Amino acid sequence: MPPDSPPRRRSICITGASRGIGRALALRLAGPDAYLMLFARDAERLDAVASACRQRGAEVLVSATDVTDFAAFSAAMRSACRDRGIDLAIVNAGVSKGIFEPLFPIDASIDIVRTNLLGAMHTISVVAREMTERGAGHLAVILSLSAFLFSPGSHGYCASKAGLRAFAKSLRDPLDECGVRLTEVYPGIVRTAMYERMGLRSPFSISAERAAELIEQAIERRRRTVYVPLRHVLLLRLAKALVPTSLVRRTLMRSGAEVYAE
Ligand SMILES: NC(=O)c1ccc[n+]([C@@H]2O[C@H](COP(=O)([O-])OP(=O)(O)OC[C@H]3O[C@@H](n4cnc5c(N)ncnc54)[C@H](OP(=O)(O)O)[C@@H]3O)[C@@H](O)[C@H]2O)c1
Repeated sequence: MPPDSPPRRRSICITGASRGIGRALALRLAGPDAYLMLFARDAERLDAVASACRQRGAEVLVSATDVTDFAAFSAAMRSACRDRGIDLAIVNAGVSKGIFEPLFPIDASIDIVRTNLLGAMHTISVVAREMTERGAGHLAVILSLSAFLFSPGSHGYCASKAGLRAFAKSLRDPLDECGVRLTEVYPGIVRTAMYERMGLRSPFSISAERAAELIEQAIERRRRTVYVPLRHVLLLRLAKALVPTSLVRRTLMRSGAEVYAE
C-alpha cells in the first residue's frame, strides 16, 4: 500500500440495523475506520441510522432488504461487500409476536421461524461463504436465552432461537478450521421495541446501548459465547429452578404481557 493511502476500513455487516440492538451496535461501531453495511426492511429508519453513523466518520451503505427474501438478500450482500470482503457480520434481524403466540393457527409462529431461523441461516451461509474463501472473518450470531430457557407460550420464538443455536454451535468448529470465528450472543432482557411489544416490565432490563457495549467487548475479545449480561442467565436459571412454569405463565398473563393478535 502506498505510504499516503488511507488505512483500510474494517467492513462490518449488521442485519436488523434499523432499531434496537442492531442500531445501537451500528452507532457504537461507527467511526473513521469503519465501512458499515446495514440491512433491515424500513428504509427511512435505516437512513436515519446511516446519517448518525456517517457523522461519526463511518462510510455507510444501507440496503432495505428482507432477510427472508433469500435471492434479494444474497444479491444485496454480494453488491455491498464487493472488493471489500466482510470482516465482521452481526446476524441480528429478528421478530417476536408477543409473549403468547397462538397455536391454532400456527401461522404467527411459522413467520417467526422464517425470519429468526431461516433468514439467519441464510445470512450466515452467504457471509460464511465470503469469509471462508478469504480464510478470515468474524460472525456474531444474536440468539436469546429463550434458546435454552424456554418460555411458556412463546413456542415459535423459542423454536427459532433453539434451532439457530444448534445451527451456530454445529458450525463453530468447521468455521474455526477455515479461519472464521463465531461468537454466540445471548441477550437477556433488553429495552427495545421488541421488549415494549411484549408488554414486559422488568427491573433487571438493560438498555440497547449497554447491550451493544457488552457485545462489542465480546467480539473484540473473540469470545465464543457471551450472555448479555451474565446476571440475566443466572437469575432466570434460578427462577426456573424455583418457580413452577404454570405460575410463571399466570404471572405473565396478570402482568398484562401482550397476547399476539393478527
Ligand atoms: N430485546 C430483547 O430483550 C431481546 C432478548 C433476546 C434476544 N433478542 C434478539 O435480539 C435481536 C434484535 O432484537 P431487538 O430487541 O433489537 O428488536 P427490535 O428493536 O424489534 O429490532 C429488530 C430488528 O430486526 C429487523 N428485522 C426484523 N425482521 C426483519 C426481516 N425480515 N428482514 C430484515 N430485517 C428484519 C427490524 O427492522 P425492520 O422492521 O426495519 O425490518 C429491526 O431492525 C433479535 O434477533 C432478537 O430476537 C432481543
